Amino acid sequence: MTMMDDKQYLTFALGKGRLAKDTMALFEKIGITCEEMKDKDSRKLIFVNEELKLKFFLSKGPDVPTYVEYGAADIGVVGKDTILEEDRRVYEVLDLGYGKCRMCVCGPAKSKELLEHHEMIRVATKYPHIAKDYFYNKKHQTVDIIKLNGSVELGPLVGLADVIVDIVETGSTLRENGLEVLEEICPLSARMIVNQVSMKMESDRIKKIIHDLKQYL
Ligand code: PRP
Repeated sequence: MTMMDDKQYLTFALGKGRLAKDTMALFEKIGITCEEMKDKDSRKLIFVNEELKLKFFLSKGPDVPTYVEYGAADIGVVGKDTILEEDRRVYEVLDLGYGKCRMCVCGPAKSKELLEHHEMIRVATKYPHIAKDYFYNKKHQTVDIIKLNGSVELGPLVGLADVIVDIVETGSTLRENGLEVLEEICPLSARMIVNQVSMKMESDRIKKIIHDLKQYL
């Protein structure tokens, strides 16, 4: 829709929250700005820079790859965790370097041997696709994956699961709850993704953005 209605705009989908703030701070360095977006009290969902013909919208992180795949946004910025979990047809063009953390299997120390012996364990996670890929395809271990929507660390504490697959940044959530990293799945950070058609149709503008950003990474 967007691309047909107003082709001249380049549209960005950003995951709401800290990632969006870090992204706008980085974009500002290469002259991609949006004054409208700085108003913290605003409940607006779409922000425009008329002069530069740019549009920005904020969505839930997991929806960013969806908007980009369907061309509702030309460019998206989202965590690698979301890219892996959503598995959308988009181009991942740049590691932006911030939002650094790790996807890990975590649990109480006593769960270590359940992992070693390839027991049929229960795994609680917000990332069932990543967890399935890791246990089934990489470790060849059959597990029972239980989808949760947040505060996943509760899983092992209340006896729902033996381990969790979750993001670890500082490790303090784990420490404060008597859990630890048992296995590391992969490193994560913020990435820029591009719609496959936009990459061809808006190739000059998008390549310039990528080129300019690289000087700050
Ligand atoms: C994330 C993640 C961990 C925590 C890790 O949760 O799921 O719980 O941050 O950070 P740390 O290692 O620095 O403690 P988030 O705050 O996004 O909320 P959620 O639990 O609702 O997903």
